Amino acid sequence: MYEWQNKSELFLPSGFSIPFCKGVGGYVSYESSIKSGAPCVIDATHARFLAKKRLPKLIFDFIDGAAGREIGKARNEQAFGDIQLQSRVLRQVDPRNLSTKFIDQSFQLPFGIAPMGMCNLSHPKADQIMGQVAKTAQIPVGLSSAASSRLEDMREWAGTYAWFQLYVTPPLDHTLSLVRRAQNAGYSTLVFTVDVPQVSRRLRDVANGFKMPFRIRSKQFFDFATHPRWSLATLANGVPKPLNFPDNGDGFDRDASRALADWEFLKRLRELWPGKLVVKGITSVPDALQVQECGADAIYISTHGGRQLDSAPASIAVLPLIRQALGPDYPLLIDSGVRNGEDIVKALVCGANMVMLGRPVLYALAADGARGLDALFSGLAYDVSAAMAQLGARNISDLTPAMIVKNNHALLDYVGFMGKKVKIL
Ligand SMILES: Cc1cc2nc3c(=O)[nH]c(=O)nc-3n(C[C@H](O)[C@H](O)[C@H](O)COP(=O)(O)O)c2cc1C
Repeated sequence: MYEWQNKSELFLPSGFSIPFCKGVGGYVSYESSIKSGAPCVIDATHARFLAKKRLPKLIFDFIDGAAGREIGKARNEQAFGDIQLQSRVLRQVDPRNLSTKFIDQSFQLPFGIAPMGMCNLSHPKADQIMGQVAKTAQIPVGLSSAASSRLEDMREWAGTYAWFQLYVTPPLDHTLSLVRRAQNAGYSTLVFTVDVPQVSRRLRDVANGFKMPFRIRSKQFFDFATHPRWSLATLANGVPKPLNFPDNGDGFDRDASRALADWEFLKRLRELWPGKLVVKGITSVPDALQVQECGADAIYISTHGGRQLDSAPASIAVLPLIRQALGPDYPLLIDSGVRNGEDIVKALVCGANMVMLGRPVLYALAADGARGLDALFSGLAYDVSAAMAQLGARNISDLTPAMIVKNNHALLDYVGFMGKKVKIL
């Protein structure tokens, strides 16, 4: 199923079957795609649409929800939409190569899977599928401290493409034991998440009574009963638990303060961890400079997909500032609000070296498991390649800030002027 091979001209995964829905024109009518039995997932929006239908509301809201009024989540997506890219024509753009190098590792595509806890709630085998897809597609996949699979298993599934994500949760001994376990399991990249000193309230979870460790409670009976496919599959495979915590998951307290981590801890971690160290959750220039000074190998710009500080600036809006402050060569990755291939290209144009996706991956898994994720990534890779062709770029390194349309006012002025002229006539 995961026949991702290099296509000779594009160096893209094989099976570029962007699912085509009969009778669907313009922007996709997802309702008709279901009726026509069209193949799985067309894009992230379609995947979300299907996930909403297929998951119990409680689970969909856990994945889809964000902090506060969810303005930060929307801001991330809007900020990508607001960027315009300047197309260029009659350039020789064949073949295009989407492969890239990031912190000394080669990847076939410039995007990967963000670390997320409890992914198996979207699909009973989500972590395993993500790991196998990452290995075959040669892209990075994060395994969260709060994952419902053992970190050793993800290392098996994804090989060297697995990165381990660390939360500092009490007791500190447990956190340090996770670092040792990750090292023993063969991980070479540690992603230290620093934007969760306290888990923010996600109001949909509060309203739905979503709690961790996750248990099926009687109040939610109707929700589960009306989604029998998900409920039976989840029961058959075992209700997911955070498996990297003591007592087989019961030792995980999602609401415990994670404020133990400070700059001293980062320095200690730097001394302790012999591999690559990435710090995730940075949105300010002073923090970025300090992380760089502490010896981290890369900075991961993220607003946690709007799940922490609702009022945070969009990740993509701070990326150019951080790039400018850290210089052209410091490795940067970004997530939050990336929804399609052009968003990925925009992030690369604005100075990122690698782009990560969170929710879209879980939507695709919920929509159609392995096939869903395969289709999502095929579509993303195709669209990145197509956007590069439009911009006149053959390699990821050809993408530069000069491709951003900086002054849209010229167009608006012209349209305004034309309007006046028509009126006078
Ligand atoms: C269900 C869910 C669980 C998450 N769990 C974690 C986690 O355990 N550790 C972490 O660093 N980030 C976690 N994140 C944040 C993601 O790594 C990522 O920053 C975010 O999803 C990116 O935004 P996007 O969903 O708009 O792509 C989680 C996100 C979601 C949606």
